[in-house]
Amino acid sequence: MNYRHAFHAGNPADCMKHALLVWMLRALARKPAPVFVLDTHAGLGRYDLLSGPAERTGEWRDGIARLLHEPPPPLADYVGLVERLGLYPGSPALIRALLRPGDQMACCELHPEDHAALSRLFRGDRQVAVHLRDGYAAIGALLPPRQARGLVLIDPPFEAPGEFDRVLAGLQAGVARFATGVHAAWYPIKHRSPVRAFHEAVRFAGLRDVVCAEMWWREPTDPARLNGCGLLVRNPPWGFETAAPDVLAALLGRLENKQPGFGHTLLRLTGE
Ligand SMILES: C[S@@+](CC[C@H](N)C(=O)[O-])C[C@H]1O[C@@H](n2cnc3c(N)ncnc32)[C@H](O)[C@@H]1O
Repeated sequence: MNYRHAFHAGNPADCMKHALLVWMLRALARKPAPVFVLDTHAGLGRYDLLSGPAERTGEWRDGIARLLHEPPPPLADYVGLVERLGLYPGSPALIRALLRPGDQMACCELHPEDHAALSRLFRGDRQVAVHLRDGYAAIGALLPPRQARGLVLIDPPFEAPGEFDRVLAGLQAGVARFATGVHAAWYPIKHRSPVRAFHEAVRFAGLRDVVCAEMWWREPTDPARLNGCGLLVRNPPWGFETAAPDVLAALLGRLENKQPGFGHTLLRLTGE
């Protein structure tokens, strides 16, 4: 448990995940039926970017800091939420902000200190359950929800070997238990080859209706660096394939540290 998300909060990879997450939650809220959201790897919930770990790495300066001034239209909703929520909101705070009165969320965090902070953030909130438990195991334990609609976000640290395999197993377990849900998983793009192998494994596993939104701020040829990131979405909300490329292009348009070879794509991995 070395990974602490506080060092990376608000960086370009976080902004990409959060902007697409906000878009998907808005899409789910277009229908009146209640939704359930499971955040398997939740982190602290919100982050002070001006002190502590985030201030030390300064990663957010090439992320959310570049978006705050007159955000491009595809990012305006996400950035507006960030501004409204004050401290930089992690996935649990963004999800909570978009829950309607009948909706519910559960978040899991395995680091004791981060879990304690997350519990404090949502203490007394009857729409939120916070668990100190393994997020992958929670997929089996907490799904299916009462609600017929919802979203599962799998966002692990990718520090230990085999994370792509665990993500795929988590997706399979989640889809088997909650077939009507939207299932999203974030992944790093360092070098193309592990990402290609992951895509191939998803196809081979027989998961249907899967798309991947990816962006990279330099050619992903150095396996030791985070060069980009992707969000796999199974059962994407209607319109995602049209909206996501605009979000990615808007983000890349604002990043100053991008280098030759940068780009983005929306891949359809498997059909419906
Ligand atoms: C990338 S961060 C999550 C960021 C968060 N989803 C967000 O967008 O704000 C991954 C988190 O997962 C936690 N974690 C690591 N292994 C875990 C596990 N097996 N189950 C639950 N949480 C885990 C880490 O402590 C870390 O806080």
